[in-house]
Amino acid sequence: MELFSLAGKNAVVVGGAGGLGQAIAQGLAEAGAKVAIASRKEESLIRAAAEIKEACGKDVSWYTVDASNEESVQALVAATVKDMGQVDILVNSQGLNKKFPAQDFDMAVFQQMLSVNVAGVMMCCKHFGKQMMEHGYGKIINVSSVRGKIATRAPGNAAYCSTKGAVDMMTRQLASEFGPHGITVNAIAPTVTETPMMTAVIEQRGGDAYRKQQAEALPMRRMAVPRDCVGPAVFLASPASDFVTGNIIYPDGGLTAVG
Ligand SMILES: NC(=O)c1ccc[n+]([C@@H]2O[C@H](COP(=O)([O-])OP(=O)(O)OC[C@H]3O[C@@H](n4cnc5c(N)ncnc54)[C@H](OP(=O)(O)O)[C@@H]3O)[C@@H](O)[C@H]2O)c1
Repeated sequence: MELFSLAGKNAVVVGGAGGLGQAIAQGLAEAGAKVAIASRKEESLIRAAAEIKEACGKDVSWYTVDASNEESVQALVAATVKDMGQVDILVNSQGLNKKFPAQDFDMAVFQQMLSVNVAGVMMCCKHFGKQMMEHGYGKIINVSSVRGKIATRAPGNAAYCSTKGAVDMMTRQLASEFGPHGITVNAIAPTVTETPMMTAVIEQRGGDAYRKQQAEALPMRRMAVPRDCVGPAVFLASPASDFVTGNIIYPDGGLTAVG
């Protein structure tokens, strides 16, 4: 269906070798986009590109970037524009999630999370956004979290919730500033999904008992899987969402509906 087609579009997925980023990168490629993935570790990028090829037959290119370093982000923009012509779609799926009780929070880690989860997203939006302005079109999708909206009862999320709340407001402000240039800026805010980011946390909290408890707490009565973010991402990358901006979509099984 043309409304949801990404044919002829070029996409960069930062954090594209991660659990959610890889699923989104594959989904964008399946919808017709030419896709590049980017993050710090070359071996993860090579693995992810091979798995996407194996899963759907699409080639994705890859680039190393440290999204918390502005020069590195600028180099990524230059390299992807050189190779692809222009970048139409940016997905920010990079992120860190480290937990300490608030009263003992390691402030060096707090700063690191601000640097990757907030400044890193901003720098990608800033530099890819500037490039999108040159051709008057763009779709930016930030991967936020339900933790940008609701806190957890269990301790540990002071930094994570702070950074995702910041991503939500950054998304709205950039939607305001980039809208006149034909660029939409939206966010996807999932709930706990079993990816490399969450595996250790899930095991620490009881493994299968925790999985069962998570599933039972959601109206949809199952845990989220990475594929749950793909539909929202394709929608927000496609012409179907051309008048949708500054919004946050919650593929959360109903968690934020029930609180
Ligand atoms: N999984 C969940 O339950 C969940 C729920 C809600 C929201 N989210 C959000 O979804 C996004 C993706 O999470 P995920 O679950 O897919 O985690 P993941 O599997 O750990 O992936 C995170 C990705 O970010 C990259 N990354 C980290 N620091 C980076 C940096 N400085 N520069 C560039 N890339 C960097 C990592 O690659 P390198 O280490 O190679 O750089 C990795 O590819 C995050 O923003 C996360 O907060 C996740």
